[in-house]
Amino acid sequence: MSTAEPILTVEGLRCSIAGQQVVEDVSFVVPATGITAILGRNGVGKTSTLRGILGLIHRRGEVRLAGERIDAMPTHRIVRRGVGYVPEDREVFARLTVAENLALAERQREPRREFVAQLFPDLVARRDQPAGTLSGGQQQMVSVARALLNDNRLLLVDEPTKGLAPRIVAEVADALLEASKTVPILLVEQNLEVVRRLAGGAIVIGGGRVVHTGRALDILDDADLIRRLLGVAAEPSVHASGERA
Ligand SMILES: Nc1ncnc2c1ncn2[C@@H]1O[C@H](COP(=O)(O)OP(=O)(O)OP(=O)(O)O)[C@@H](O)[C@H]1O
Ligand SMILES: [Mg+2]
Repeated sequence: MSTAEPILTVEGLRCSIAGQQVVEDVSFVVPATGITAILGRNGVGKTSTLRGILGLIHRRGEVRLAGERIDAMPTHRIVRRGVGYVPEDREVFARLTVAENLALAERQREPRREFVAQLFPDLVARRDQPAGTLSGGQQQMVSVARALLNDNRLLLVDEPTKGLAPRIVAEVADALLEASKTVPILLVEQNLEVVRRLAGGAIVIGGGRVVHTGRALDILDDADLIRRLLGVAAEPSVHASGERA
């Protein structure tokens, strides 16, 4: 397995929304395997960074996918190059069934239906259920499944565990870990336990800039850094088995 060339290289990324700069100067690399986390407080520009990479918002700077410049490409071409997106807030088609949601995502001749079915047996059982009637966790699985149906070279996944019960958080994390064996993932995640379990490297964003990068475990074990950069206390795994009703 070659890990020499990063799958994604971002250099001096600046993004703006309606003329307002929301990403100031972001540079980082994403290795070709495993999960790389983007951390940062609310509103620092994590989502905008992903949207800038995809060309969904106005951006400047250099973005390379496996060495190829993609920063001047329109979004549809970036997607066709093999960049999958799992947006914040899931965005499933509420009135369509699970099967319909998945069918609409298929863009290649032989979608990876079996892989997705193995990863999410729950969705197979609920294939005829309108997606809007699923739990938050199940909707998140639909959202991840849509991206996994295609042979992407990189997935951008935005806060997949937000608002989910602890047991469901673990299920979604399991699925992402399994998926990451087949495709590298750039993961925005605020749940530090999930980051600890999943991520190899981590990038911390603050005020539209990268303020720290390193091994995820080194960052998470540095209580001072966590408090300073994320504004939360780094706690031991107190929530691991303590699901509340
Ligand atoms: N549609 C918009 N119009 C104007 N400003 C926006 C818009 N979307 C985001 N912003 C601003 O851009 C900045 C970065 O937002 P972004 O959503 O990228 O942050 P984030 O790190 O993903 O936050 P969160 O943790 O809340 O998801 C924020 O100051 C936000 O208010
Ligand atoms: Mg966000």
